[in-house]
Amino acid sequence: MKGVVLAGGLGTRLLPLTKITNKHLLPIFDKPMIYYPLQTLINAGIEDIMVVTGGNNAGDFLRLLGNGKQFGLKDISYTYQEGEGGIAEALDLARNFADGEKILIVLGDNIIEKNIIKEKKEFEKQKEGAKILIKKVPHPSSFGVPELEGNKVIGIEEKPENPKTDHAVIGIYMYDSRVFDIIKTLERSDRGELEITDVNNAYIKDGTMTCSVLDGWWIDAGSSPENLAKATQLVIKTGANNLT
Ligand code: DAU
Repeated sequence: MKGVVLAGGLGTRLLPLTKITNKHLLPIFDKPMIYYPLQTLINAGIEDIMVVTGGNNAGDFLRLLGNGKQFGLKDISYTYQEGEGGIAEALDLARNFADGEKILIVLGDNIIEKNIIKEKKEFEKQKEGAKILIKKVPHPSSFGVPELEGNKVIGIEEKPENPKTDHAVIGIYMYDSRVFDIIKTLERSDRGELEITDVNNAYIKDGTMTCSVLDGWWIDAGSSPENLAKATQLVIKTGANNLT
């Protein structure tokens, strides 16, 4: 299974911090943000990793991460997203890299406390389809919100005004190679993006989506200055991904 970190986008919710740099290069405690999702993949046993970035500071990722040696990797693949057409558009750039294998995607601003190797192994055994991770949150309307029937997700709404549950779909997604065919069928949302929630709903519709509740804390560090600060506090308090 291969891994992809999505680190494109303009990070406008963190202006002026993101005026001169990419949000994923900002510090979370004593490390740049991108170290955490990268380590999430490595801790799950993934060695073949692509970083999708964009904007004016793409070259800085190469200087920071280099060939991956400092993370114990043999190398790292990179690609560049022009504009910010959405998470699914950024993911589509990993089509050739994936080369028909299953993939594990981590959004570049999503930081988790614990290892997801168990969930990754479950997905390796899953014959086909996709797997998402969900977590109970105080303000679900800032996220993709799953509609649940027992343990089963029966639909996801992107940032709904009236959320159907108190859970969020976190930015860690596992897909089979069909994901790239699904992306081809997507239409842009009202915010002009190819939405990852539409990809997930396509898998839910054909009955091949599974779902697990994430163990430990999760934070979308790039969604507001408050969450950026909170991420640092959480990492100082408990550590994340064995990075502290
Ligand atoms: O954090 C989890 C949430 O992430 C999910 O609950 C939502 O369903 C999902 O849509 C997403 O919501 P956000 O609005 O928080 O996504 P954001 O625009 O902040 O993008 C998250 C990451 O995806 C960002 O760190 C970099 C990457 N990205 C995003 C866009 C829009 C790209 O690589 N390219 C892009 O064009």
